[in-house]
Amino acid sequence: MVRRLLFLAGIVAAALLAATLLGPSLRGVAHPLVPQGPDGTYQCSTCHGPGADPSAIPAGTTVPLPPPDHAAYKPDSCVTCHATVVAQDPTTPSYALCATCHGQKDKLTKLPDGETLQVSVDVAAFRSSVHGDFSCTECHPKQRTIPHAPLTAADLRAFKQEMGNVCQSCHAEATASYAESFHGMAARLGVSRAATCTDCHTAHAVKAPAQWTLAERATQCATCHTGATASFASGWMGHREPSLGWFPMVFFASKFFVALTALTLGVGIVHVELDVLRWSSNKIRGRKEEVDQ
Ligand code: HEC
Ligand code: HEC
Ligand code: HEC
Ligand code: HEC
Ligand code: HEC
Ligand code: HEC
Ligand code: HEC
Repeated sequence: MVRRLLFLAGIVAAALLAATLLGPSLRGVAHPLVPQGPDGTYQCSTCHGPGADPSAIPAGTTVPLPPPDHAAYKPDSCVTCHATVVAQDPTTPSYALCATCHGQKDKLTKLPDGETLQVSVDVAAFRSSVHGDFSCTECHPKQRTIPHAPLTAADLRAFKQEMGNVCQSCHAEATASYAESFHGMAARLGVSRAATCTDCHTAHAVKAPAQWTLAERATQCATCHTGATASFASGWMGHREPSLGWFPMVFFASKFFVALTALTLGVGIVHVELDVLRWSSNKIRGRKEEVDQ
């Protein structure tokens, strides 16, 4: 009896472990929210049927066609076989659920101060970004409930700055070097225009440095540094310390100044020491002369 209970407990533990391990890799593949008719029937044909409504289909996704044998199935029979499509955990919505509304173009809202916030998201760009397999709620936990709770940020800039903390929660190293950059320092000093993470990286189309062209970077810089070109963008050192392989001129210049300072200090100390030595030897010689007399 005890053995059987232990065995069962083992299976449950293994299943829980598998679920936690597989969880992240299943992110983003969940099915979009399926609208229900007044009588509770699921409206699969809105997207899958002949005469599907293109505006209901989340941008950046392709709806698979039902196989030909499906012509025989009644519209209200779908979920008897495809139960997983509607049985998703509402606390972990996929990108596709959010995209049903946010994939549509020209969606706007007003912030408390009257400024307009564009809430359309380029889902295709998001899917091919470095965070493409994240569910939206990984960065937007507050928007799990629909309709969403009212925004706390009063204006656009405050919203961006609030959201910038989301990036920092995962990228500690980049955040530390950002804090030492002039943008980070300016932000700490209260310069509200100073660049935050998303001003340079964007929020939903973040690219790995190797795939991120100088021209694309310059476009981001130019939103504040008017007329910024690729060479302006290349002049910035990113989040790394200069080294022999990374901005060697800056590396040598900083090393040169360190060496110069050390040399100046060293020569100064030797100079002072020699002075002290001469002064004390004079003193001793003076005393000797006094004794001799
Ligand atoms: C809002 C549009 C929309 C509606 C409504 C919709 N689907 Fe889908 N369906 C999609 C999209 C988009 C995909 C592809 C998902 C992806 O690539 O992540 C998909 C994929 C599927 C798949 C294959 C992948 C999977 O998750 O198993 C099946 C089966 C499916 N849908 C069945 C259904 C059924 C059954 C209904 C009705 C209960 C339904 N769909 C309603 C948009 C929709
Ligand atoms: C009797 C069970 C059954 C019913 C009822 C049923 N399906 Fe399916 N469906 C299947 C099976 C099994 C497959 C996979 C067939 C295959 O791979 O060839 C499938 C495949 C699909 C696919 C393609 C998935 C992909 O990944 O390409 C879609 C879309 C789909 N069904 C939608 C629907 C819709 C919409 C309905 C309601 C009109 C429905 N199904 C009713 C069993 C069913
Ligand atoms: C039924 C349509 C709908 C769905 C589904 C939806 N949203 Fe929204 N979302 C809106 C609207 C409308 C706004 C504009 C502000 C408002 O009215 O709440 C908005 C605003 C936002 C904002 C801007 C900040 C804010 O709170 O106003 C974020 C971020 C956001 N949504 C994220 C999400 C995420 C993440 C999901 C998926 C879990 C999602 N939304 C699903 C309609 C939707
Ligand atoms: C890696 C984190 C991250 C993920 C994943 C993410 N967002 Fe965002 N989102 C942000 C940040 C940061 C902002 C703040 C805007 C800015 O700084 O430009 C934002 C802003 C928004 C806004 C407000 C309008 C805007 O563009 O400023 C909406 C709506 C939104 N996100 C929806 C979504 C949806 C829908 C998804 C999934 C398809 C998603 N987000 C995935 C980080 C993320
Ligand atoms: C939930 C954690 C999380 C959040 C929040 C997050 N990221 Fe990421 N980010 C990752 C992971 C995981 C990777 C992929 C692993 C890697 O390459 O370092 C990544 C990759 C990146 C990369 C590419 C790194 C490289 O060397 O290729 C950049 C740039 C980046 N993120 C910037 C941001 C920005 C900007 C934000 C805010 C909009 C943000 N991240 C929010 C986890 C996160
Ligand atoms: C002034 C623009 C700018 C700001 C602000 C900025 N970044 Fe970056 N970031 C860059 C550039 C440019 C690179 C690519 C450097 C390269 O080519 O290696 C980069 C690289 C990265 C990488 C890739 C790994 C690395 O260290 O090179 C991550 C992750 C990252 N940034 C996250 C962040 C986060 C998080 C913030 C906010 C705390 C932030 N960035 C603020 C411009 C910026
Ligand atoms: C959101 C606005 C914003 C963005 C985007 C931005 N910066 Fe800045 N930048 C500032 C502010 C504010 C300062 C503080 C000093 C000042 O007022 O000129 C600054 C200062 C600088 C400085 C210090 C020297 C100087 O001219 O004052 C450099 C270099 C610089 N930025 C490069 C870049 C590069 C390269 C990018 C793009 C990768 C970029 N910035 C993106 C706002 C921004």
